[in-house]
Amino acid sequence: MTGLAPVSTVHEPVLVAEVLHYLAPRPGGIYVDGTVGAGGHSDAILAAVGGRCRIIGIDRDPDALAAAGRALARWGSAVQLVHANYAGFEAVLDDFGIDAVDGILLDLGVSSLQLDRPERGFSYQEDAPLDMRMDQTRGTTAADLVNRLDAAALTRILRDYVEERWASRIARFIVEARRRAPIRTTGQLEAVVKAAIPAAARRRGGHPARRTFQALRIAVNDELQALSGVIEPAARRLAGGGRLVIISFHSLEDRIVKQAFRRLAQGCTCPPGAACRCGGDTILEILTRRPVTAGEYELRRNPRARSARLRAARRIAATGSE
Ligand SMILES: C[S@@+](CC[C@H](N)C(=O)[O-])C[C@H]1O[C@@H](n2cnc3c(N)ncnc32)[C@H](O)[C@@H]1O
Repeated sequence: MTGLAPVSTVHEPVLVAEVLHYLAPRPGGIYVDGTVGAGGHSDAILAAVGGRCRIIGIDRDPDALAAAGRALARWGSAVQLVHANYAGFEAVLDDFGIDAVDGILLDLGVSSLQLDRPERGFSYQEDAPLDMRMDQTRGTTAADLVNRLDAAALTRILRDYVEERWASRIARFIVEARRRAPIRTTGQLEAVVKAAIPAAARRRGGHPARRTFQALRIAVNDELQALSGVIEPAARRLAGGGRLVIISFHSLEDRIVKQAFRRLAQGCTCPPGAACRCGGDTILEILTRRPVTAGEYELRRNPRARSARLRAARRIAATGSE
């Protein structure tokens, strides 16, 4: 096996100016950074208010939290870091005795800290154990999925998450390969995917294993489910005027954010005059009609920014209750 030596890498946060613009941090505010990662966005938020706000920084990856701890140490007790899934952010706030916050930021996906460490198993560039868990303290690895799921389930993952054209062929090749020997490494999986995709198709559209690795990562970490479930509770935990800012890197994530924001901004959809049966109330005002993307300058400096899409919304104060 090669490339297991620690790689020194930095995570360059994306759309920092845009995050500050839409989150609009203010002195005295409380902010949840639900994907604190290497702490780049949190650092910028604290710097914007001279350290006079409070940040609850959540990440499901203990290594990321350690990096955030180092990066944010200068802000002292203004930062509290918690090992959790952002889907459980309400329990985190309850533990701190916090009812409502002034802003919530989610910068989805994986960080360079994770991608550039071969031993995490996210990358097809180096041979390493096929892991891909953001939280290595629990859960199912990518190796578990490729060795256990049947061809139909593997096909669905590849089709539904990344629209892989060769989904069923790749799934079939995986099932055949693991009959000979379990697939335990990124290199083994990459070789199987390459063999499954016809040579002519392999020459187009980037590395042939890129989409398969992305789909498995999404499945291993239940990424879409966590996102779908968090938007409404996040909106409801905002104080009046509080902001929700979400950066996604995948069209399915962006669609989930767009549709949830619309639903929460639209409110009741029952016919006019009829008693409300849908239970919808208008709690958000959308601040970004279209997703905000990186400008030329950032794109030149940070290739990760290429697929970043930021959407933001503001909590409308509920009449009577806030
Ligand atoms: C793109 S990075 C965030 C980088 C961060 N904004 C910065 O400036 O350094 C995404 C981070 O979110 C974490 N993450 C992804 N999904 C998560 C979830 N459901 N709950 C908690 N953390 C999550 C990953 O472990 C990773 O560290």
